[in-house]
Amino acid sequence: MSFEEITPSEFFYRNRDLAGFTNPTRSLYFTVRELVENSLDSCESKGIKPELFVSIAIDGSEQQEEPRFYDVMVQDNGGGIPRRHLADAFGRVFYGSKFKLKQSRGMFGLGVTMAVLYGQATTNRPAFVASSVSGQRYYGYQLKIDVEKNRPVILRKFEGRAVGWRGTLVAVTVLGDYQRAESKIISYLEQTAMAAPYVTMIFRGPRGEDLRFHRVTDFMPKPPHEILPHPLGVDIEMLKKMIRAWKDRGDLAHFLTRSFQRVGGKTVQKLLERIDIPGSMEPGKLSEDQLQGLMSAIKSYEYFLPPDPSGLSPLGADLLEAGVRRMLNPEFLTISVRKPSAYGGHPFTVEVAVAYGGPRLKPGITVFRLANRIPLLYDESSDVTWKVLNNMDLSGYRIRSEHPIGVIVHICSTRVPYKTVGKEYIADRPEIEREIRLALRDAFRRLRVYLSRKETMAYRKKRASTYSKYLPLIAKFAAGLVGAKKPPPYEDLIPTLEREVLLVEEAA
Ligand SMILES: Nc1ncnc2c1ncn2[C@@H]1O[C@H](COP(=O)(O)OP(=O)(O)OP(=O)(O)O)[C@@H](O)[C@H]1O
Ligand SMILES: [Mg+2]
Repeated sequence: MSFEEITPSEFFYRNRDLAGFTNPTRSLYFTVRELVENSLDSCESKGIKPELFVSIAIDGSEQQEEPRFYDVMVQDNGGGIPRRHLADAFGRVFYGSKFKLKQSRGMFGLGVTMAVLYGQATTNRPAFVASSVSGQRYYGYQLKIDVEKNRPVILRKFEGRAVGWRGTLVAVTVLGDYQRAESKIISYLEQTAMAAPYVTMIFRGPRGEDLRFHRVTDFMPKPPHEILPHPLGVDIEMLKKMIRAWKDRGDLAHFLTRSFQRVGGKTVQKLLERIDIPGSMEPGKLSEDQLQGLMSAIKSYEYFLPPDPSGLSPLGADLLEAGVRRMLNPEFLTISVRKPSAYGGHPFTVEVAVAYGGPRLKPGITVFRLANRIPLLYDESSDVTWKVLNNMDLSGYRIRSEHPIGVIVHICSTRVPYKTVGKEYIADRPEIEREIRLALRDAFRRLRVYLSRKETMAYRKKRASTYSKYLPLIAKFAAGLVGAKKPPPYEDLIPTLEREVLLVEEAA
C-alpha cells in the first residue's frame, strides 16, 4: 500500500466539478462570474462605485468549432491588491482576504484560483494579472500554478505607470463553449446589475456584442462591519484555533469577552459556573475535557442575544426596487424586507421583491435567486426558495398559472449556507426557510390586492362594453314595444359606465 498527500490545488485540480467547473459551458460562465464577483467585492468593500469592463474574445482563429479557447478579461476600479499578495491571490488555493466575518460575495479563497487552474489545465496558457493600489504604478505577473506545491510560478513580471488607474485586471484563457454559455452569461450580467443597481458594466462578447449597464443610482448599501464570531457559530476546533491565536493576552474570562460577540462579564460568569472553571485560568491551559465542557456549556446556554447583524449589508427596499425596475420594468412591484435573523450563530436577512407583468416576464413564476448580491443561475430546483414556493398555496393569493410573475429572493449572510463550494444553491435551513416564507407571504398579499383590483377592472370593462353594444338595441326594441317613434335617450348612460371604468383604473 502506498500513501500520499495532495495539496489543495491538486485536490481542486482533480475535482474541479466541486467548484462548478464541470464542462466548457459551465466553466466559461464560472470564469466570468468568479472574476466579476471579486471585482465587485473589491469596489464595494472600499465604498467605490464599481465600473467594470468584461470581455470574452476567441483566442486564435484556428478552432472553428465549440468548445474552443476563449480569452476572458475583467478590469475593475476597485481597491487593488498590494504587490506582495498579488501572485498568491491568484496562484494559491485558499489564499484570500475574505475569511473574516462580514458579508461578501467571496467566501472560500478559491474562486479565481479555480479559473486560473481550469485555464491552465485546458489550454496550458498562463494567466495575466495586474493591479494598482496607489494609482501611481501598476504591477503585473504572467503566472501559472504549481499544483503540487500550491504556489504561483511567475513567468514574467511587468511594471509601469498606472496614470491614475486604481484597480485590478485579470485575464485567463480557458476552454469554453460560448454558444451554449451565452444566455447564462448575459443573464448573469443582467441580474448582477439588478442586484447592484449602482454598478456600471460594459461587456464585449466574442461576436462583437456590446452590452452596457449604466448605474441607475448613486447610492450604495452601507459596507458591512467585520464582526466577532457568535458563540453559537463556533465548534470545538474553531475554539481551539481562537485560543491559539489569543496566545497569552489574558485570562479565560478576558478571552471569552474579547473573542466573541454577545458575551459580557455576566454571561461569562454564568457559563463558567456551570462547568466549574475559574475565569482566571489561562485559556491555553484548558484540558481537552475542560474545552469539551466549555463547548457544551456554550451550546446549551439559553440566554445569548441573537448574532449582531452589523456584519450584513442588505440592499434595502429602495435599491432592490431600483434594480428590479431596471431589469424587468414591471407593471406592478412590491418589496418585502425582513429584519435580520440568525441560523446556527450566523446572522442573515431576507429581501424579497414580487413583480407582475412588464415586457420581460413570461407567464408563470420566474424565480431570481440572489445571495450576497450574486445571482444564482444553476441548480434552481434544489434551492430553498423553490421548496418554500412549492409548499405555498398560491391560488389563495389569486395567482394563476398564466400570470407573469417574477419572484426575486435575496439572502444576505456572513455565511451563506451554500450546498457546494461552487456557490450555486442554498441549503434549506429551517430558519432561512421561515424568513423566505414570511417575506413572500407579505409580498403576495399585496400582489393579491393588485390582482383582485385588476380582475374587477377587467370585469367592469367587459360589462361596459357589453352595455354599449346592447343598449342601443334594447332601447330600439323597448321603443318598438310601446309604439314610440324614437328610442329613449340612452347615450348618457354609456359615458357614465366608461367613467366608472376609468375611476377603477385610476384606483389601481
Ligand atoms: N479584482 C480583485 N480586486 C481585489 N482583490 C482581489 C481581486 N480578485 C481577487 N482578489 C483577492 O484575491 C483573493 C482570492 O480570490 P478568490 O476568488 O480565489 O477567493 P475569494 O473571493 O476570497 O473567495 P471565493 O472562493 O468564494 O471566490 C480574494 O480574497 C481577494 O483578496
Ligand atoms: Mg472570489
